[in-house]
Amino acid sequence: MPDPLGVGMIGCGMIGQIHAAELAHLVDDGDVRAVAAADPSEDARAAANRNCRFERLYAHGQQVIDDREVEAVLIATPTASHRDLVLATLASGKPLLCEKPLAPSFETVRELYDAVAASGLTAQVGLLTRWHYLASRLHELVTTRELGRPMGYMLRDDQYWPTGQIVPGHSSWRSRRAIAGGGALLEHTIHGIDLACWMFGPAVRVWGRTRAVFGYDVEDVAALTVEHADGTIGSIVTVFSGVRGREETRLEVFFEHATVETTIGFLVGADEDGFLLQRADSPPERPDLAAMRDEHFTRLGITRRDFFFPTYPADRAWVHAVRAGAPASPGFDDALRAHAVIEAAYRAAATGEPVDLVAELAVP
Ligand SMILES: NC(=O)c1ccc[n+]([C@@H]2O[C@H](COP(=O)([O-])OP(=O)(O)OC[C@H]3O[C@@H](n4cnc5c(N)ncnc54)[C@H](O)[C@@H]3O)[C@@H](O)[C@H]2O)c1
Repeated sequence: MPDPLGVGMIGCGMIGQIHAAELAHLVDDGDVRAVAAADPSEDARAAANRNCRFERLYAHGQQVIDDREVEAVLIATPTASHRDLVLATLASGKPLLCEKPLAPSFETVRELYDAVAASGLTAQVGLLTRWHYLASRLHELVTTRELGRPMGYMLRDDQYWPTGQIVPGHSSWRSRRAIAGGGALLEHTIHGIDLACWMFGPAVRVWGRTRAVFGYDVEDVAALTVEHADGTIGSIVTVFSGVRGREETRLEVFFEHATVETTIGFLVGADEDGFLLQRADSPPERPDLAAMRDEHFTRLGITRRDFFFPTYPADRAWVHAVRAGAPASPGFDDALRAHAVIEAAYRAAATGEPVDLVAELAVP
């Protein structure tokens, strides 16, 4: 077995603390050495350190990057700070994992994509819904064509407004365009858009409308129509509302010979999880979700079951890719394609005209 990978984490807030818990599992697995974590907030550092005992704690991200025993860097800070941390990590020659969204503006996303491509370093993006067992099963049904060709889909995301003004104690940067770049669509539904591009191929044309009902300078409602390279057409609605406690993703795919409805909760094994497959002239099939979950993790070579977020399989896959010097998935190319759909939707919402992603955004 190779030596454990020395990991440093920058940003010890909500998702940083979840990554810390997964790093503790990976330390336990013998995959990782938790070398360092950084956050300007002492309370956040302490909270992450309770989930995973790091060898060193710092106030500044650059100290993690400069730490000689840190071999790979996990970036989990608010969106506007990703650019400088990604570029500094690449300059140090270290592989990285950066949380989604990569940046508030599409221009910066492209700059980061180009920098990662030029570096040749392993770089993963925190688009972790791909590691969810229900998304994985749906991806398999789409790509094997066992239900016929996919014709269309509906994706619906609705979640409470994740800002301190609506949820006491929550951080508030998500309701500020300068830091978050966008609202429900960019901050949240980038996950579902990544799933759609993963299943149906890159998007080629997007129509869109947005609203800001709560009065922040980012949208809390967006509705899109998306056309993919394989001809599949999708309809996406995303909402940040005042329904505290609610967080649900519903993805329905209509095939030539079957319809599949999935509901994907954020936690592994969430109560709201659902999967219904309806074939022609047959009663609806509702497979055993615990068995599906178990089969999915077994197929990934995962033996433990004591994790609560798909961050564990995602972080584990990143660590394995870094050690193998292999490309990570989902990578910055996947993120660029998802960001491009969102950029196209914002442009379409501003002009009322559809946006051609190949001609106007030069997406590969
Ligand atoms: N993949 C997912 O499902 C998922 C889930 C939640 C958040 N996120 C993303 O993760 C990122 C962080 O979100 P969050 O919910 O943890 O935010 P948060 O506000 O809870 O925490 C952010 C932390 O980063 C720290 N920080 C700010 N600037 C820093 C810097 N330059 N160096 C070091 N630390 C710094 C803050 O002090 C804070 O503790 C965002 O980009 C968010 O979109 C992804």
